[in-house]
Amino acid sequence: MKIAVTGGAGFIGSAFIRQLLADGSDVEVLNLDKLTYAGNLENLASIQQDPRYRLLREDICDAPAVTRALDAFDPDAVVHFAAESHVDRSILSPAASIDTNVRGTFVLLEAIRARRKGRFVHVSTDEVYGSIEPPGRADESSPLHPSSPYSASKAASDLLALSYVMTFGLDVVVTRGANTYGPYQFPEKLVPLMIANALDGRPLPVYGDGRQVRDWVHVDDHCRAIRAVLAGGRAGAIYNVSADQPVANIDLVRRIIARLGADEALIRYVTDRPGHDRRYAIASDRLRTELGWRAVHSIEEGLAATIEWYRANTAWVERVKSGSYQEYYERNYGSRTSRSGPGQPDVALA
Ligand code: NAD
Ligand code: TYD
Repeated sequence: MKIAVTGGAGFIGSAFIRQLLADGSDVEVLNLDKLTYAGNLENLASIQQDPRYRLLREDICDAPAVTRALDAFDPDAVVHFAAESHVDRSILSPAASIDTNVRGTFVLLEAIRARRKGRFVHVSTDEVYGSIEPPGRADESSPLHPSSPYSASKAASDLLALSYVMTFGLDVVVTRGANTYGPYQFPEKLVPLMIANALDGRPLPVYGDGRQVRDWVHVDDHCRAIRAVLAGGRAGAIYNVSADQPVANIDLVRRIIARLGADEALIRYVTDRPGHDRRYAIASDRLRTELGWRAVHSIEEGLAATIEWYRANTAWVERVKSGSYQEYYERNYGSRTSRSGPGQPDVALA
């Protein structure tokens, strides 16, 4: 089977490619990736010599380049990960999320429509449902209430992709994954940022009161879910992907601190993210009952293994933090005020 992957040098896309090549011999993979700040070929070092794999550095917004690439490779399926994937960056500069997430998805859909061949797996997020009041969980028919430019751009691209099923008869399936953690995640997201900062003895910036809840899934489980949907998902269907492991941010940060033997005094409660969703919680019964998927990793074991990976790969972390990362860090955290605990006075975030 020939699979074109977009965004395969990023966190989840690279795990997907590594998993695919490790498990299936009869597969060829083309990775279409622009190699933005989030794309890292080090994530693919273990498979870069594999004859079943090749990379094309392309922007998915470049329609002629996308058409050329797909025509030359002639894939049976396109698994679409490429995105501007970070909420905070989408708040600082929304344009890139709209370009890549909406227009890039449109370009891919048009290229597949012209080819009239191949399944399109659109990898999306539970953030499209917005904040869910406890004890509820969003299922695939829940209304969409995106709160950030990132989640709104993903919701827009989900709906666009699904419209191509209705209007043009394309074979599209959509996954909506929960917050994902594991090795090789860029240290702008909560888990790797807290691990990297704790390892360096730097402050741990917790937004607002830290009681926001996220529903965590390990990257390898997320990738197995996407493969199950690729293989057996119904055209036009949406599949939520969650391991049903909701944790409040501050509790997750405390677990990381405890595991690393770091000091809780590093915690800083900082100015909240605008439009911050309070709680994500999704039901993935459809994925389980229709496709037999089960999460293998518990949050306890998966988080411990992830922490050990970052501890053993400090050189990878240092390399990705060089260059524009410091500039981003200053932009996102520099103007936030900080408290060492609820009721404590504001201080500068050193
Ligand atoms: P990431 O930011 O780690 O990687 C994104 C990849 O896309 C990078 O390799 C980047 O170079 C590439 N890319 C960006 N713009 C591009 C463009 N215009 N053309 C070609 N390539 C481009 O992202 P991730 O965390 O691996 O997320 C992958 C997908 O999964 C995204 O669609 C995201 O919305 C979705 N998702 C992520 C999570 C999560 O917790 N990380 C959860 C659910 C869903
Ligand atoms: P993040 O990893 O950015 O994922 P998402 O916004 O897609 O859920 O953030 C996860 C949660 O952690 C979210 O509630 C915001 C919070 N957060 C912090 O408290 N501090 C931080 O420095 C970051 C990056 C996130």
